[in-house]
Amino acid sequence: ETEAEAETLTIELTDSIQNLSVFLSYTVFDDSNALARSIRFRNNGDLALGLRRALSCSVDLPHANFDLVQLSGAWANERHVVKRALAPGLQSVESRRGASSHQQNPFLALLETGAGEDTGQAYGFSLVYSGNFLAQAEVDQFSCTRVSMGINPFEFAWRLESGESFQAPEAIMVYSGEGLGGMSRTYHRLYRTRLCRGHYRDRVRPVLINNWEATYFNFNPEKLTRIASSARELGIELFVLDDGWFGKRDNDHSGLGDWFVNETKLPGGLKSLGEKITAEGMRFGLWFEPEMVSPDSDLYRAHPDWCLHVPDRRRTIARHQLILDFSRDDVCEAVIKMVGDVLQSAPITYVKWDMNRHMTEPGSANLPPERQLELPHRYMLGVYRVMETLTSRFPQILFESCSGGGGRFDPGMLFYMPQTWTSDDTDAVCRLKIQYGTSLVYPASTMGAHVSAVPNHQLGRITSLEMRGHVAMSGNFGYEMDLSTLDDSEKELVAEQVRTYREIAPLVQQGEMYRLLNPFEGNECAWMFVSQDRREAAVFWFRILAQPNPPMNLLKLKGLDPQLDYRRLDNGEILGGDQLMNLGLMCPMEHGDFKSALWRFKATTP
Ligand code: DGJ
Repeated sequence: ETEAEAETLTIELTDSIQNLSVFLSYTVFDDSNALARSIRFRNNGDLALGLRRALSCSVDLPHANFDLVQLSGAWANERHVVKRALAPGLQSVESRRGASSHQQNPFLALLETGAGEDTGQAYGFSLVYSGNFLAQAEVDQFSCTRVSMGINPFEFAWRLESGESFQAPEAIMVYSGEGLGGMSRTYHRLYRTRLCRGHYRDRVRPVLINNWEATYFNFNPEKLTRIASSARELGIELFVLDDGWFGKRDNDHSGLGDWFVNETKLPGGLKSLGEKITAEGMRFGLWFEPEMVSPDSDLYRAHPDWCLHVPDRRRTIARHQLILDFSRDDVCEAVIKMVGDVLQSAPITYVKWDMNRHMTEPGSANLPPERQLELPHRYMLGVYRVMETLTSRFPQILFESCSGGGGRFDPGMLFYMPQTWTSDDTDAVCRLKIQYGTSLVYPASTMGAHVSAVPNHQLGRITSLEMRGHVAMSGNFGYEMDLSTLDDSEKELVAEQVRTYREIAPLVQQGEMYRLLNPFEGNECAWMFVSQDRREAAVFWFRILAQPNPPMNLLKLKGLDPQLDYRRLDNGEILGGDQLMNLGLMCPMEHGDFKSALWRFKATTP
């Protein structure tokens, strides 16, 4: 943000035969072991050129003694940590789905053999892009490793007319001599403070209640205000109305594209509902899925050529919907107008921007045949333009991106929206792995995490309200259930969770995260957040299943100041930073599955 904090070297390469210039840019940061790489092509000749491949970085490492770490998964099971030793030849992760995807994240790390969470060398590669990507490591005949990353060359082409340029997205490369933990903290700082932007970047986010799992499509104003009031009584600040408020939308078969309030369902419209909620002292938020259209919608009936499609071919539907062609300016403008009008019509302070299917038949009615392979990237540029327009027109609104949960949890989205709905899986046990994996690259401030009802709607598992609370408090905290159905003691616990979160939110959202126990390796999981001055810490511990006659269990903390004494806030005990980090903290030996704890520490010594 100031001239002093980063410096960019640009190297121009020229191909005099093709009259092409290629600009390689390398940005180094003053206080971060990070390097931002990108590439730009410029056609200096008179003839058009065709780009077939435009990766953003290519790095050679002089050996192959690495494990490749990737974040892979599926819907409701995103960003699981997968580790494998590098082998000769190519190994890659990619998306060909038109979005960065639930299946693979635009990230990979190389971890030097023997390195781990806290020690050894780690190299991270993360692409600031939300569409088709490729990230690969190739081990050659001399056991050297080449890592490259960028827009996926799969079905990609770009026609570069005379005088035109093509700018590829940035890849952010991080080096850590302190294992994966050090790499993650570098990404967290950089992404939290230099990638995310806007009003909420450095502000603590509101605790929210979302009605999705409480009502799905079946709601009326009375139901919604009951959910909002019971949440407000427990200290929750923001009520979010999810899918189902617009067009003809009583299920997921219709209505997308018709961004006009359904007055039959919500008499008085969003204005009346929003004002009622605001008058009660809460803020009001709203769900959209602007990139989509239902075949059963007025928008589709009026503009059947506005969706991605290939002439005369089937238009494959997924979740009963098609994708709007955001490579077209007229489509983007229409969406900006519809969404903008709604945002202006009611006191809306938060938007959840969803996207619930991937691309099939990726063609555009607006592009000539020779430019059809430009569609997936042009689509992304259109999405970014619409997001840029709306987020700058409504700078006070907090935007959260979402894609069937975490199907587009990537740095490209975070540039426009500082938080993302982490996963549609709200089960506390599943969330341990999902949030742990996500934290390899993304800070806790970006991870939407909500307490939901039990039995959990995705799995049927019954976990304790304590554990659900502690898991959700490890991210951007909220609830996704009808709190009026809870008994008094549960309500008391919710009110306590909200109070506690408000106190620790600056730590979780702006502190340094240290991962302590890896849920991919055992029955327990733990992580902690430490303030920048190391005088305050919040430690979360989770045990999934009970164990008979368990061993004594000491949890070693990290990131504290060994010279300082800390007061444990729940029992007043004074413990040295060195003691907490070298000897550890005794974990509870309680009976029962799904146990968790939160310990808070404050330095006592000046
Ligand atoms: C998918 C999202 O991830 C959910 O949270 C919810 O908003 C639904 N879409 C609504 O259709």
